[in-house]
Amino acid sequence: MAEEHAAPPWLDALWLIFLFGLALLPPIRELHKQVLLLLLGVFQILESRFIRVTGEKRGPVLAVLIKLTLAAVLLNHTHDVAPITSSYWPVFFVPVTTAAIYFRPLATLLWTTLTSAAYCSYLIPALQQFDLDWKGASELLLRILFFYLVAMTVNRFVMDYRFQVQRYQTLSENLADTNRSLRLAQAEARHAERLAALGQLSAGLAHEIRNPLGVIKGSAEILNQKLAASDPMAQELSGYIYTEVNRVSALVSRFLDFARPSQLNLRAEDLPAMLESCLKTATDQGATAHVSITRDYAPSVPRVMVDRELCEQVFTNLLANACEAMGEQGGELKLRIRPADAQVAVEIEDSGPGVPEQMREQIFNPFFTTKKTGVGLGLAIVSKIVDAHGGTVKLVSPPGRGACFRVALPIAQAAKGAQL
Ligand SMILES: Nc1ncnc2c1ncn2[C@@H]1O[C@H](COP(=O)(O)OP(=O)(O)O)[C@@H](O)[C@H]1O
Ligand SMILES: [Mg+2]
Repeated sequence: MAEEHAAPPWLDALWLIFLFGLALLPPIRELHKQVLLLLLGVFQILESRFIRVTGEKRGPVLAVLIKLTLAAVLLNHTHDVAPITSSYWPVFFVPVTTAAIYFRPLATLLWTTLTSAAYCSYLIPALQQFDLDWKGASELLLRILFFYLVAMTVNRFVMDYRFQVQRYQTLSENLADTNRSLRLAQAEARHAERLAALGQLSAGLAHEIRNPLGVIKGSAEILNQKLAASDPMAQELSGYIYTEVNRVSALVSRFLDFARPSQLNLRAEDLPAMLESCLKTATDQGATAHVSITRDYAPSVPRVMVDRELCEQVFTNLLANACEAMGEQGGELKLRIRPADAQVAVEIEDSGPGVPEQMREQIFNPFFTTKKTGVGLGLAIVSKIVDAHGGTVKLVSPPGRGACFRVALPIAQAAKGAQL
């Protein structure tokens, strides 16, 4: 309702000058009149402060009531014959316009009616002395109509103004929101840039480490053979060197697989066959020894446009994770394949412990692992390969039950070549 009025001080000065003009006009020696004008002037100047103190709801009501009272009393002290005939009747425009400024149209109409009623109330004592002829009645009606006219004109402009203010407010809030998300996006971009630079650096480092590793590995192997008969201790130590170097070398190779850009060799492939071949590899390696496998493949699955070798990496990683999650005691592995829009979706669900809520965001990050001997590159590689195919990979199971990963890949005619 009430709004802040940042009126320039010269407006207050003008208002006082006009009031002073009224004070100089007859009746001049009427003390009450001068005091009332002074009160009206002071109240007008202090009005916004008054509303701030009394509150947004009560303030305007009190302000209009005070002005209305001052106006009514002023009429009482500025007449020759009866208050209703006072030339100061336009002072009622003061409460009327104040109401028009602070209230909505309906409330403005009510306040104008109250003001008109206050003005007309002077009719009651006047009627005891005089008769109300048609001329007098039409004059009264004219004044009242002017009250309404002025009130509605002012109110219309104020409503327009308020509407604009609200629009600009919403606009500026939206702008602030956009700014905030922009800053966030910029921060994220900077973070991604730093990560990318770090990735490049470590890829370079891994590449450089691989060559000396090869030499160490070869030397350890030769040493192992040479020392085979002579010194069992030295043989054992060289054996350690050999196996550990092998481990580091495998790690570096995996990392380079992840970091290296490579061209996709896209071909139309049959997803169920591909998944089965990955499952067979896992079974041959003994990963599914205690796992019961159920398949739910849609009858006619369209071919997908993928790089076979890379996609096999995707499924091998997901199957390995599923089997590792179920552990020694095994469990149930559910495989589903079905078409979805322009894609084919593969779901790999295990009956393991699942992924806790707080880790869902991180599991696709490189080097995130919860396993003692894990590297944390499996899902990072999966997501990189799937992204390069224009597909999606998601953990779709809710926390608290076995994990279910869904990989969606584009069907043959919709797929495009891409850079990995
Ligand atoms: N099927 C799954 N069930 C439960 N947790 C999983 C599963 N797959 C992945 N995770 C979690 O995501 C992490 C990252 O997986 P991954 O990137 O393959 O690396 P790694 O297997 O070397 O740990 C795992 O350490 C594990 O905590
Ligand atoms: Mg893994």
